[in-house]
Amino acid sequence: MGDDPDRRKILTCAVGGGLGLVIAVPAARLVLGPTGEQTVTTPTDPLDVGAADRLKVGGPWQKVDVVAPLVKDGWTTARDVVLGAAFVRRTADNQAQALSAVCPHLGCAVGWDGKNFLCPCHDSKFTGDGDAIAGTGPAKRGLDPLPVKIEDGRLRLTWIRYQLDTASRDKA
Ligand code: FES
Repeated sequence: MGDDPDRRKILTCAVGGGLGLVIAVPAARLVLGPTGEQTVTTPTDPLDVGAADRLKVGGPWQKVDVVAPLVKDGWTTARDVVLGAAFVRRTADNQAQALSAVCPHLGCAVGWDGKNFLCPCHDSKFTGDGDAIAGTGPAKRGLDPLPVKIEDGRLRLTWIRYQLDTASRDKA
């Protein structure tokens, strides 16, 4: 009774088919994602980058990390992901301003020397307002401005990545 060859074949097919499905479904998801789409969702809403009163009105640029509280892709959710860095300041008329710290040439992190922005990779230099200084390096445009506002005493910045090594400012 337990050695019925037909029954054994059916059982083998059922177990084999089940195992195939167990392997095939995650493999398909690896390529397509659970919804059939490959997506990584980074926030497009303004992100909190700190208290506005840390910046003196009319004071110098300060560097801040831009951290997303949540980044999702098809499979996982990551928290507190550093997206990049920006320079922020408050102008004399109390407007918040922000510049991306990503060099528009090839993406190195620019630094601030108190007067100009400098890129350590290929020596591009930018004015204190972020404009490219001609003849200093290969950057084809100035630093990228980022939308920022003060809301309830907090600086809220919208992170945008632009295409590199172009004169125009097109979103990546
Ligand atoms: S990456 Fe900044 S000048 Fe090349």
